[in-house]
Amino acid sequence: MHVSSYNKASNDPNFENVNSSTTSKEKTVDFGFQTVLASEKAEKVHKVFENVASKYDLMNDVMSVGIHRIWKDYFVKKMFPLPPGTSIIDVAGGTGDIAFRMLQSIERQNKHFDVSGTEKNSSILISDINQAMLDVGKERASKMNLQSDMLSWLCADAQQLPLADNSFDLYTIAFGIRNVTEISKALDEAYRVLRPGGRFLCLEFSHVNNPLLKQVYDTYSFQIIPPLGEVFAGDWKSYQYLVESIRKFPTQDRFKEMIEEAGFRSVKYENLSFGVVSIHSGYKI
Ligand SMILES: C[S@@+](CC[C@H](N)C(=O)[O-])C[C@H]1O[C@@H](n2cnc3c(N)ncnc32)[C@H](O)[C@@H]1O
Repeated sequence: MHVSSYNKASNDPNFENVNSSTTSKEKTVDFGFQTVLASEKAEKVHKVFENVASKYDLMNDVMSVGIHRIWKDYFVKKMFPLPPGTSIIDVAGGTGDIAFRMLQSIERQNKHFDVSGTEKNSSILISDINQAMLDVGKERASKMNLQSDMLSWLCADAQQLPLADNSFDLYTIAFGIRNVTEISKALDEAYRVLRPGGRFLCLEFSHVNNPLLKQVYDTYSFQIIPPLGEVFAGDWKSYQYLVESIRKFPTQDRFKEMIEEAGFRSVKYENLSFGVVSIHSGYKI
């Protein structure tokens, strides 16, 4: 058994998060500030999202004071205009927040350009490892009266998508990639399932560099978010994991390199809200 607790060196976001344990041959990875066996992380992450699924959307509003909506709207805006018939996969799509925005934007765009007819319709596959999150998403889709023939759902691991090579024009992942056990595997899969010319877009919590803002942000994250999780969702631990996992995620520059290592080209990133989140993008050439 190998479980070591948080130490300062391993809290460096540029530190490779997949390590070889000294006492066992199995790889260890970060789960927030804990180091756990790679084989244990998926189950732990699964529990987190199973616990938060029913309160997930409410908690996003509470924790970010609604700002997550602005980030997501901006993220989706960056994809447009999209040619009719674009095939999209939204990985770690959870309760559908990104996919629903894309769908509504596609409908607005089609109206504007007077594009109609199912043959020209784009498609969005919402994929997530957690069925509980997808179930909440499906319920939301029907409440929102969304055009369901453009949406489909898949319960799958981002590191091992049961999908053919070169199948999608656009791959999106929002607030998901930091939860996967091996980020590089998810990036390899993104590259594999995209068609040549396809685009990768990732929205993720990142790192605030301004020392003063960082201090305020850290205080808010560690002192306020877990208590909010307890009050609104009866779950301190999941929200503690959330803030820790953000600190463990690679820096903007290191993540850009990882995307390039997966084969993507023209990789760049943009910080939003001083780096609280960033958008990374790249193309499969
Ligand atoms: C913070 S939520 C983000 C949901 C949605 N993209 C959004 O922006 O609201 C993270 C999602 O990642 C999913 N996830 C975690 N590990 C995953 C994996 N290995 N493969 C696919 N999805 C995963 C979780 O189940 C959860 O739904």
